[in-house]
This record gives sequence, structure tokens and C-alpha cells, in this order.
Amino acid sequence: MNLSLKEKNAIICGSTQGIGLAIAKELALLGANCTLIARNEEALKKVISDLDTSLGQRHSFLVADFSKPDEVRTMIEDHVKHHTVHILVNNTGGPPAGMIIDAKVEEFLRAFNQHLICNHILTTAVVPSMKKEDYGRIINIISTTVRIPLKNLGVSNTIRGAVASWAKTMANELGQFNITVNNLLPGNISTQRLDSHIDTNAKMANTDKNKIEQGMKNEIPMRRFGEPSEIAAVAAFLASPAGSYVSGVSIPVDGGKTGSI
Ligand SMILES: NC(=O)c1ccc[n+]([C@@H]2O[C@H](COP(=O)([O-])OP(=O)(O)OC[C@H]3O[C@@H](n4cnc5c(N)ncnc54)[C@H](OP(=O)(O)O)[C@@H]3O)[C@@H](O)[C@H]2O)c1
Repeated sequence: MNLSLKEKNAIICGSTQGIGLAIAKELALLGANCTLIARNEEALKKVISDLDTSLGQRHSFLVADFSKPDEVRTMIEDHVKHHTVHILVNNTGGPPAGMIIDAKVEEFLRAFNQHLICNHILTTAVVPSMKKEDYGRIINIISTTVRIPLKNLGVSNTIRGAVASWAKTMANELGQFNITVNNLLPGNISTQRLDSHIDTNAKMANTDKNKIEQGMKNEIPMRRFGEPSEIAAVAAFLASPAGSYVSGVSIPVDGGKTGSI
């Protein structure tokens, strides 16, 4: 199986921590030149200095805030003028928790911009390069809420569905150019975002954090949270030559938690 990403250029968004960081590490290990995107410049510098370079990989970073789509557009359009892109990982911070009935219109607009609109801006900018190279891999990090909405994640549940539909439509249009478009649906993955969800839920239920955590683990067939590296392993396969005939799918990586077939 060919998993080599040597000579491939990857853009990994939201890659200073959590799932994005794990994906950047894995793609670099397989030989990709990685360009990281996030807001925190210091963290970006630190991450690229830690990525594998043993195969001659060259890594770089771009600073961008996905709550400002126009800035993202300028940044990526400038980047593709000088760089070829084979792999794009669309990923950013998730919308804040809260019940949908309490959600303000502005919260939906913010999440729509940060997730769907930025994915679209980045994708449309890199596709010409992927077409030219006859190799494209677009991987969107969404959530299992695409399949089954989760409690207290009203805005997130709503936006994730839109991103999944956008991605499937893109896959239909781009397949003929050897560009695959797939979604990863993380379950409960040990990152800062999960930790802050557990904190919020414990406060709301006026109970101990460990109790909430154990309750969540009991709902997972594998009885544990996932590691970011376990999402990264699937992303790496999809990004590689071996993933060439997988497109238009949403893959839960959730220890079996999602209760649908
Ligand atoms: N962890 C889970 O259990 C889980 C489950 C289901 C779905 N997900 C989803 O998967 C995605 C990644 O999750 P995670 O747990 O890895 O999140 P995380 O630990 O909060 O990391 C988010 C990353 O995105 C960047 N980011 C946040 N806001 C940004 C913005 N406005 N512009 C540009 N970059 C931004 C952050 O870097 P900077 O702060 O430097 O910008 C960071 O690198 C999220 O959408 C999350 O909702 C996670």
C-alpha cells in the first residue's frame, strides 16, 4: 500500500493543537511538506520546528483568522500564486456550546463563515493547482453530529450538516479530476475542546467532572476517548495515494459511538 506523501504539499488548517496538529505530524512523517494555518503565530512557529524533516520535507505556516473570510481569501490566493497544493485539510475551532433555542442569529452566521465559507474559499483557491497536478485530497474535519445531533451543541449541529452537504457536492464535481473530498467525523477525542465541553457539562449539571467523563465513556463501545493521532491516521490514509478511490464519504472515527449503521 502506497502511503508515501513525498513531494506532496499539504495545507493543514487549525493545526496548532488537537486534531489539526496530530494530522500535521502524521502527514509530515509520511513525507509531506506541510503548511500550517492558525491564528497563534508563536504556536505555529513551535509546531513547524517540531515536524519531521528526515526526508527533506520543508514546512511553513500562514497566520489567518477564519472569523475573517476576506482575510483568508487574500492569504490563500497569495499563497497559491507561488505554491502547488496537493492536500487540503479544512479544520478550525468548533462553535461554542449551547441550546439551539438560545442561539443568536449572529452565532449561526459566525459559525457558517468560519466553517463553510472558509472551507469554500480555501478549496476554490487550491483546486486549480490540484487539477494541474492530477492529484487532490480535500479532507474536512466535521463531527459525528452530521449523523446524530448532540445535546447542547445547537449551532454546531446545524453548521456541520451544511459542511457535509457542501463536501458531498464538491466530491461529485471534482472526482473527474482525481480530486477526492471526504469528511472525518470525530467522536470524543482528547483535546482542549473536549475538556472544555466536559467542564461546561459538569457546571450545568452541578456535578463532578470525573462523573461526566465516565458517563460519556460508558456511551462509547470502546469505553474510552480517542486520541488525536487516531483521527490523524485515517486522515493520512485519505491523503495518500492509497486513498485514491475513496470519495464523497463521511467517516466516523468515534470508537463505535455513533448509533447509526
Ligand atoms: N475534540 C473532539 O472531541 C471533537 C469532536 C467532534 C468534532 N470536533 C471538531 O473538530 C475540530 C477540531 O477539534 P479540536 O478538538 O482539535 O479543536 P481545538 O483543540 O480547539 O483546536 C482548534 C484549532 O483550530 C485553530 N483555530 C480556532 N479558531 C480559529 C480561527 N478563528 N481561525 C483560525 N484557526 C482557528 C486553533 O488554533 P489558534 O487558536 O492558534 O487559531 C487550533 O489549532 C473542531 O471543529 C471541533 O469542533 C472535535
